[in-house]
Amino acid sequence: MEKFALITGSSSGIGLEIAKILAAKGYNIILTARRKERLQKISKAIISDYNVNCDLISCDLSEKNAPNQIYDFCVKNNYNVEILVNNAGYAIPSTFIETSMEDEEKFLRVLGISVIALTKLFLPSMIEKKKGNIMIISSVAAFAPPSSIQSLYGPIKTFMNRFSDSINSNYNKHGITSTAVCPGFTYTEFHSSSGVQKEMDRVPGFLKKTAERVAKEAVSDTLKGKSISIPTKTYKVFVIILKVAPIFIFSLLVKVLAPGRYDKNK
Ligand SMILES: NC(=O)c1ccc[n+]([C@@H]2O[C@H](COP(=O)([O-])OP(=O)(O)OC[C@H]3O[C@@H](n4cnc5c(N)ncnc54)[C@H](OP(=O)(O)O)[C@@H]3O)[C@@H](O)[C@H]2O)c1
Repeated sequence: MEKFALITGSSSGIGLEIAKILAAKGYNIILTARRKERLQKISKAIISDYNVNCDLISCDLSEKNAPNQIYDFCVKNNYNVEILVNNAGYAIPSTFIETSMEDEEKFLRVLGISVIALTKLFLPSMIEKKKGNIMIISSVAAFAPPSSIQSLYGPIKTFMNRFSDSINSNYNKHGITSTAVCPGFTYTEFHSSSGVQKEMDRVPGFLKKTAERVAKEAVSDTLKGKSISIPTKTYKVFVIILKVAPIFIFSLLVKVLAPGRYDKNK
């Protein structure tokens, strides 16, 4: 049976780079995101560049039924999903009291509930075959104190890391691994689509990594079955500092290195 990798949020950024790397390794690819025309162009390019099958399904993960639509599409086409990459995401550039409950619900659905739903749907057939890799694109924000804007972003990423741990502790024995990938600042469309491009522009260059580099480490760590992946040495060190340093040191550091995220309420 041919092996497939399903990548959410593969119309740009880290997800697109992961799709290309997995195609180069011989995986057939299923792309999903909202922008259908982009997915169609990417699909054509992947088929011609890597000589693999590449199909797509366009849907909005903020809609409750989207994970089921994706799963039914794979079952109908007999796509054997061996790698599930939960990558789609964005952030809301407002303080907590400025957002509506509907905004927050949609956000949690894309970054959290859809991840759980897709994992729940694809896991049984992976267990049956005793083989499956789940990748969850989390963030170094999972380890940092929550910021004054994007208030649920850090918390949902922390939750996703714990969810990934839970999949490992329950299903490693069935041949399943789950890798929580925690990138730092990465050049993608994330900051412009999340309304924080100005803040991103102020971050010094040495802290901003390319999506190709992040995706390469993420795929390598996932295929090795690592439970956590922190792409680049810079962010490996950053996470150690976050774990041991008192919060006021972190606050001083971000004031200098990433101004804008921690001062909107002051
Ligand atoms: N860039 C960073 O600095 C950074 C750092 C740490 C973690 N991350 C995480 O990395 C992941 C990928 O982000 P990126 O940086 O590669 O940003 P990106 O270039 O903006 O890509 C985000 C992807 O998610 C898709 N998406 C967004 N909302 C969606 C929805 N409602 N339904 C379905 N798909 C949706 C987008 O596609 P459509 O618009 O076509 O739907 C796009 O393909 C996210 O989970 C993000 O939290 C990013």
